[in-house]
Amino acid sequence: MRTVFGVFGDPIAHSRSPNMHNAAFLELGMECTYHAFRVSPDNLKDALLGAKAMGFGGVNLTVPLKQEALGIVDADPLAKSIGAVNTIDFKHGMKGYNTDGLGAKRTLEEKGVKIDGSNVLIVGAGGAARAIAFQFAKDGASITIANRTEKKAIDLATDVSSVGLASGCGLENLKELIHGSDILVNCTTQGMHPNTERTIATSEYMHSELTVFDIVYNPLETRLLKEAKKAGAKAVSGEMMLVHQGAEAFRIWTGVEPPVDVMKRAVLEGL
Ligand code: ATR
Repeated sequence: MRTVFGVFGDPIAHSRSPNMHNAAFLELGMECTYHAFRVSPDNLKDALLGAKAMGFGGVNLTVPLKQEALGIVDADPLAKSIGAVNTIDFKHGMKGYNTDGLGAKRTLEEKGVKIDGSNVLIVGAGGAARAIAFQFAKDGASITIANRTEKKAIDLATDVSSVGLASGCGLENLKELIHGSDILVNCTTQGMHPNTERTIATSEYMHSELTVFDIVYNPLETRLLKEAKKAGAKAVSGEMMLVHQGAEAFRIWTGVEPPVDVMKRAVLEGL
């Protein structure tokens, strides 16, 4: 009998996780299958208990369930500090993890970008910014969070200060902030389809030693990444964060080394 895995969320029809994980299971000849399930926050607890009772191997959570899960599962310290769970393992009870920040870390590491000791400027202060800020601060980076709503940046920086170095501000001095940074991460929706001409910064703001990482992957090459290339900076696109957060979940569930290239191909095919 195949072990069932899944992603819960609402909306869920466009999730790329089933493609990605099923391709990995097929590649490794594992008797497993992965499906998408539409679950509302009100039904999350019942859905998780049902999945566990039916012998699911594990589940991923996406919008709008990641925060809700904290009150239901036994979350690890990183997921607790991020305030969101995206991976649940049923092996021992119902353990919750957050692999989003780790996905971002692996994406940069794969490109030879060092996080420890670097100055990282994160633009945006939503869920993705939160996961990346906690992970990178824990990994020894000095974090600046700049956000349109300044208070959200300051509040997030205060939280992140419990694990590392972080400060928060508005978007007024973005040019100077980028000038002093090694890594710029866009965690806003700027540049996402259909607003593909929008960007948080243009090439004049950037320098050739900079790494620009855009978590937006629709389109694959955003205006921000085009600007980065124009400035001679290193441009890193967001689809690999999706792949690596999935690969980390795969590791947690199966203990098996995930076939990252196969997972990447499956994600790109779906885009
Ligand atoms: P997620 O949880 O996926 O990170 P989110 O919580 O909706 O998404 O966060 C979106 C981020 O994009 C926020 O930081 C938002 O800024 P505000 O906190 O001021 O709303 C930022 N954002 C959205 N549109 C923006 C714009 N036009 N200019 C600058 N920042 C923008």
